[in-house]
Amino acid sequence: MSRPLVLAIETSCDETAVALLRSPREILVSEIASQIDLHRQYGGVVPEVASRNHLPKIRPLIEVALQRSGCSLHELHCVAATRGPGLLTSLLVGYSAGKALAIGLGRPFIGVNHLEGHLLSPFLQETAQPSPSVGLIVSGGHTMLVHLVGVGSYRLLGRTLDDAAGEAFDKVGKLLQLPYPGGPEIDRLAKQGDGQRFDLPRGMLKSGDYNFSFSGLKTAVRYLLPKLDGNFQVDLCASFQEAVVDVLVQKTIRAANQVGLSLVTVSGGVSANSRLRSRMTEATTAAGLDLKMATPALSTDNAAMIAYAALQRYLIGYRSDLREDADPNLKLV
Ligand code: KG4
Ligand code: ZN
Repeated sequence: MSRPLVLAIETSCDETAVALLRSPREILVSEIASQIDLHRQYGGVVPEVASRNHLPKIRPLIEVALQRSGCSLHELHCVAATRGPGLLTSLLVGYSAGKALAIGLGRPFIGVNHLEGHLLSPFLQETAQPSPSVGLIVSGGHTMLVHLVGVGSYRLLGRTLDDAAGEAFDKVGKLLQLPYPGGPEIDRLAKQGDGQRFDLPRGMLKSGDYNFSFSGLKTAVRYLLPKLDGNFQVDLCASFQEAVVDVLVQKTIRAANQVGLSLVTVSGGVSANSRLRSRMTEATTAAGLDLKMATPALSTDNAAMIAYAALQRYLIGYRSDLREDADPNLKLV
């Protein structure tokens, strides 16, 4: 049998993305049409604007992806699309396009949980199959620690009780009047700053569980700002980032030790953060743990990770029921 080929579509938020992946992990193409410039003027993603813009882009993007990969539709073994979580009206565009394509081709359709896409993404460029590990997922909408038992078998260790880590980056970015999204901007500015200058709260660091809280940190920045003058921006970015990274790193290491697993993964948009990557590398090395992270390009939203999660499920015989709808609140665990 030829190596299974999957086409995947991702439209859970503001990126329209299409990828073709050939088993086991050959990314033939990973196209992303970003709408960030459109949403920047509003300081965040506007759902109505996002879904309206997915619509005219999705079909041409599928055509471009096929053309660039040199594949034809009839070579596909299955079609996949993100089912949730995300913005319903955005999800519906990609999910409906994926279903329609699968029905038209007479191929199986696989609806993918966006968070499973992130969670498995660190394995995409490895030679090993997804294996038992403790996964930290840090994105704009989610922050969670998950015990990956095997593909499709996940156990929740902890999650944020308020803001997601990426949300905290973006909100603090807004307070500092940085362009949207704040995460990459803070990462860039923090490189020139002193992360020890401002002593900011490490929410729930000593809570004894694996939950997180970032809204107190954001509020601390809000109350600190009016008291500051002169040159403080880069130091504040670095101090804020250090507080987020401290909690993420310490809780992840503790979770891996407690669950008794030697492999840690970090995924989601915030895993593109340079400080999180270096601190997590140091900490796992010191603790004698292995670490896998997706490349920064595969950390933020993309369709290659959706294709990879779909392929893992396709290979174990999973098929989606075409009567299932997109679900903005779809749970991973
Ligand atoms: O995974 P993602 O692309 O979309 C969601 O599923 O939410 O994550 C987007 C989030 C945004 O909050 C963005 O600010 C953050 O990831 N992000 C970063 C960096 N790059 C993206 N945060 C900190 N440092 C970065 N380098
Ligand atoms: Zn995401």
